Amino acid sequence: MIIAIDGPAGSGKSTVAQLLAQRLGFLMLNTGAMYRAVGVTCLSQGVDLQDSAACSQIAQDLDLEVDRDGRLLSRGQVVDMDGLIGESQGAAASRVAKLPQVRTVLVKAQQRIGERWDLVTEGRDTTTVVFPRAEYKFFLTASLEERAKRRHGQVTSDLDLKRLAEEIERRDRQDSEREASPLSQAEDAHVIHTDGLTIEQVVDRLFAVIGPVSGAPDAFSEGLMPGGGQSGE
Ligand code: DC
Repeated sequence: MIIAIDGPAGSGKSTVAQLLAQRLGFLMLNTGAMYRAVGVTCLSQGVDLQDSAACSQIAQDLDLEVDRDGRLLSRGQVVDMDGLIGESQGAAASRVAKLPQVRTVLVKAQQRIGERWDLVTEGRDTTTVVFPRAEYKFFLTASLEERAKRRHGQVTSDLDLKRLAEEIERRDRQDSEREASPLSQAEDAHVIHTDGLTIEQVVDRLFAVIGPVSGAPDAFSEGLMPGGGQSGE
């Protein structure tokens, strides 16, 4: 089964996807981390982020995969996620993500992963391009102000809140206006506005749509879903 979640930067997708995957016993696939790995490697090798052939060669060479714990692997080695999380890494990712050749390589890798595992995946095109037949699709949104605040709390950023908001806005524009698979809302996605909601409340809303999943640990009886015995983790 595939549960796909898209949305702009800072909308809470990664945290929500992680919790959901954990509770369902599914693998979590963070597709943004794959674009970040390509962007960061291009930068470190001095490759021009507009050089489609060179960047897509790097995407191929990285040979990205996930292990059964959902850790991102490159050529069989665990990728250090700490090196990928900042805004400059996000900006590099957004630039290589404009290149159709790079997207082709990563989308194929993501689809291969989806053939092997039950997944909760998140990104910009997971509901539209990568897994158009996902069983459940969600689109998370939040105001720019809220997203900047969340990112500010997540990354040890030397950017102040105002500059971080500008950076996120610029990245949103780049991700939404590019020609290749721009960020867009799938027609059949459940849209969730997350302003003012805690992560737990967002996860509860997703569970309310999904309901019990056969084969997954019994989240209802463990009180992990609305209607269960406890209020959550
Ligand atoms: O979700 P994130 O911030 O880690 O993503 C980093 C960049 O990668 C984002 O600005 C756009 C790009 N991306 C994409 O184009 N398609 C995806 N499925 C995931 C991320």
